[in-house]
Amino acid sequence: MYNSKIAGLGFYVPENVVTNDDLSKIMDTNDEWIQERTGIRERRHVVKGEDTTTSMGVKAAQKAIERAGIDKNDIDFIVFATLSPDYYFPGPGVLVQRDLGLKTVGALDIRNQCSGFVYGVSVADQYIKSGMYKNVLVIGSELHSHGLDMTTRGRGVSVIFGDGAGAAVMTREEDPKKGVLSTHLHSEGEHAEELSLIAPGMGKRWVTDIIGDADPEDTSYFPYMNGQFVFKNAVVRFSEVIMEGLQTNNLTPTDIDMLIPHQANLRISQFIQKKFGLSDDQVFNNIMKYGNTTAASIPIALTEAWEAGKIKEGDLVVLAAFGSGFTWGSVIIRW
Ligand code: UT7
Repeated sequence: MYNSKIAGLGFYVPENVVTNDDLSKIMDTNDEWIQERTGIRERRHVVKGEDTTTSMGVKAAQKAIERAGIDKNDIDFIVFATLSPDYYFPGPGVLVQRDLGLKTVGALDIRNQCSGFVYGVSVADQYIKSGMYKNVLVIGSELHSHGLDMTTRGRGVSVIFGDGAGAAVMTREEDPKKGVLSTHLHSEGEHAEELSLIAPGMGKRWVTDIIGDADPEDTSYFPYMNGQFVFKNAVVRFSEVIMEGLQTNNLTPTDIDMLIPHQANLRISQFIQKKFGLSDDQVFNNIMKYGNTTAASIPIALTEAWEAGKIKEGDLVVLAAFGSGFTWGSVIIRW
């Protein structure tokens, strides 16, 4: 048995900055509402044709591999988390294998939305723990902007989400007291439709149905979110799963050096911070700059926190996520 650790981190966001004021020119919204309810000031949107979910993931991965100080041919396995894949199938994992020019290593796609990166870290951790793989590349990447309803009808969702990618190279750690100490994953499918994109899917409406109906009122191919219901569940599940991780390792909230919550809403992060009595130095948020980037939000935030020197060797780092599914999870890391 080994432990796993994060050996290299990288992120990539498209250059195109979209401010709240920019959005207020195309839909009935305003900077005050968005900042007050979510904390978001701006987000990045891919300019059509310039990037895809895969290409952003590849750029983040290249940085992570470089920082891990390994050769790309030492990657044993790819895990790719996204809700916005380039193709309906195959998933982006194999496209990363191709575009990075890796050996024919396995590639796994994860569909756990905002919890995708946490699920990915958990999978990589288990493969490394068992000794099956030594270096696993975990990517979270999202291109939301092209699939959102950018009219007043969709404003409850479209102002929140942004594009970007983050990646981590996870590798073997020989010291059992260091690296990933535990991961905790949960789901509650009873609430699957409360934050979802129903079509195109085999269950309800397929592409031919959508085209055949050509119904301008059809919103089934845009994401739907019951915001207040999701918010209420998020604060409870975030708290539970962080405590579960701490208790498993005989730790308490005072032991946390850095909490990286999934960047869903600044108000959710602030609620958690207050509940656990953490200072501003113990929680990292960057939703103000990037909005909610779903599977990419934790690796982007983790990379930025690390680049800013806010994570040092020996620190207790906690990752926590909640989102569509519902799914949620946490990762406890001794850096
Ligand atoms: O990452 C996955 C997990 N996601 C989350 O955890 C998100 C959780 N939910 C939230 O963060 C919040 O519920 C939102 C930020 C999405 C919404 O905030 P809210 O305080 O729950 O607002 P609401 O949806 O109840 O809407 C309040 C009002 C409504 O108007 P009326 O009915 O009161 O007249 C909306 O139509 O705000 C209106 N509204 C907007 N106004 C201006 C909704 N979106 C906008 C907008 N600009 N973009």
